[in-house]
Amino acid sequence: MRIGIYIGSLAACLCLLPRTGAAGSTGEAGIEKRIDKLLARMTLEEKIGQLSQPVYVRDDQELLTRIEQGLVGSLCVTESQIFTPAQRNEIQRIAVEKSRLGIPLLFGFDVVHGFSTIFPTPLGLSASWDEEAARETAAVAASEARSYGIDMTFSPMVDVSRDPRWGRISECYGEDVLLNTRFGVAAVRGYQGENLTSPTSIGSCVKHFVGYGMSLGGRDKQFTEISRRSLLETYLPPFEACVRAGAVSVMTAFNDIAGIPASANPFTLRTMLKERWRFDGFTLSDWDAVVELMNHGVAGDEAAAAERAVTAGVDVEMRSATYRNLVRSVKEGRVNIRTIDDAVRRVLRIKFRLGLFDRPYVDEAVAMASQLTPEHRAVARRTAAESMVLLKNNGVLPLSPDMKLSSLTGPFASNRDLLGWWTGHGRQSDVVTVAEGIRQGKPASMTVVEGSAARQSVRTTVICIGESGATFGESHNLTDVTLSRSQIEMVREAKAGGSRVVVVLFNGRPLVLTPIMDYADAILVAWHPGVEAGNAVADVLFGRVNPCGKLTSSWPKDSGQIPIYYSDRTSGRPRENRYLNVDGQPLFPFGFGLSYTQFRYGDLRLSSPSVGPQETLTVRVDVTNAGTCDGKEIVQLYVHDRVASVTRPRKQLKDFKKVFIPKGKTVTVEFRLPADELALLDADCRQVVEPGEFDLWVGTNSHDLLHTVFEVK
Ligand code: NOJ
Repeated sequence: MRIGIYIGSLAACLCLLPRTGAAGSTGEAGIEKRIDKLLARMTLEEKIGQLSQPVYVRDDQELLTRIEQGLVGSLCVTESQIFTPAQRNEIQRIAVEKSRLGIPLLFGFDVVHGFSTIFPTPLGLSASWDEEAARETAAVAASEARSYGIDMTFSPMVDVSRDPRWGRISECYGEDVLLNTRFGVAAVRGYQGENLTSPTSIGSCVKHFVGYGMSLGGRDKQFTEISRRSLLETYLPPFEACVRAGAVSVMTAFNDIAGIPASANPFTLRTMLKERWRFDGFTLSDWDAVVELMNHGVAGDEAAAAERAVTAGVDVEMRSATYRNLVRSVKEGRVNIRTIDDAVRRVLRIKFRLGLFDRPYVDEAVAMASQLTPEHRAVARRTAAESMVLLKNNGVLPLSPDMKLSSLTGPFASNRDLLGWWTGHGRQSDVVTVAEGIRQGKPASMTVVEGSAARQSVRTTVICIGESGATFGESHNLTDVTLSRSQIEMVREAKAGGSRVVVVLFNGRPLVLTPIMDYADAILVAWHPGVEAGNAVADVLFGRVNPCGKLTSSWPKDSGQIPIYYSDRTSGRPRENRYLNVDGQPLFPFGFGLSYTQFRYGDLRLSSPSVGPQETLTVRVDVTNAGTCDGKEIVQLYVHDRVASVTRPRKQLKDFKKVFIPKGKTVTVEFRLPADELALLDADCRQVVEPGEFDLWVGTNSHDLLHTVFEVK
């Protein structure tokens, strides 16, 4: 083992990083004083009321009474019970005008990939590798939601997930730490904007803290085993980045972390989040996660569950009502009043920052005029097209304008079920179907016949297959992620009938496509693209948009290979990662995606063959658009520490750039790689940069790469 260059404990390192979007100004000092005054006037019951977030149910008189009594701090609003802005104002009026202290309520909602204008699902959007798309879609969603009366979204979800069987993989930004980090930060910035009091900003609650994406066996909300190392290396970093970007809230997860449930975990909640990262917003349990501490077997009754959660650092309880027991727990000395006061202060701080005390109501006319505008639809169409990934193309795409006859078929051709899981306030009736998009967007010379009857007589068949929005998402797990048998048959039959076959896939998760690979001439992954689905698909099929998306998960050849991801460790026998029936490679690697043009990589060069621990390496590569149309390429940079004191991932994405390259042109893409980004966690989980040789690759996906080596001195 070599001697490492010790940078300091993880804690020390993290404290050096700048905090953004949080306290410090005179405004913030004023807020703290107002909180002091309020806290001094609050009864213990009212304080604990601020820590409870029941679920809003229309006409629930008991809930309204509790609001009037000052015993409710915020409401969890659900898709099925969403109110009108006028109803929302009425509920708020009870809190502000009838409760003793007039503290406004905070309304939380799952604005996950859009509010009224629904964008691609998060996994789909991540395939754009375009952080600006994440920021922009979040900003549009925030403007629609805030004007409607939603103050906080339970988003983004930055749970790194490597298991497509787990239905919630569709809600994260793929299998990679860097992508979840960058997209998470962009989403937080989009939701929160420059100023939380703006009528177009909402608070962002980052979830699910932490390790929820581990999902052993693809099972949701079941036991997971997470080591301290994978917690620190894989699951915590995206959260840290979102908190440092100013996210006002963090949702605690359902899962267990090496024996301590995430919603009762002092290490993650107090030591890491609140102490080391100096998070000053509030934590919120996931739905019933506090009462479920009893199911975990770490609390014998509701009072014990509440005591464990609040002491560990869960400030607010969503849905279950165990925190009511805290009045007694405080009075009997089992919970310190300072713990309660700190939690209440955090909630009030965010209410002040959101401007709720000064502007508790929404303007109903503005709310209605702000939804699903043509400008918002344009963002949806553009980002949906940018997210689509071309997996195969033997030349059939883009569909040529002089093509005389084409057919459109498959279960998703005229289907509006293209909004995915979490549909916010969106409506299926607003979705443009593929049939509509193609009808409106096809060249005048082209005849498109819809339905299966036409298949035998046409030269090109577009088949829209995949999975419904009701087959992925929360608690929607599968043991096998292969396309359904009937859909495989549909593709095979079309091919057998002599057609050229274009498959357009609508999916929330990576699917096994092995059975159709020999029968499809082209495969376009469209995900669940949202309200502008059909227009965006037509833009890509007809070549108005050159596809540029790339996978952010490895797509397996067979479900039995799961989990399969590019950044695993090599082990002692790297080649023995195969099965008797399938090899150890994915069908499509992480980062893969084709274009209608071709990109050539050359002349990978470094600023120096070696760098010191405080220095930055500059990496340059020339990328040429050698094809016949303009296009965008996502240039990816990976590294690997050749010999270290601990085992390292075989490759790690360190940076990427999305560049537009006109046909025939070459651009030089430059990356700057500071040596401290090569740090690892040593045997004691201390962050160090160890000297030695590193592999460095740059290229078009995690498999097809130019390679060089450099040294850290
Ligand atoms: C449970 C889900 O796990 C979480 O992601 C969501 O935000 C809450 N329910 C509220 O709907």
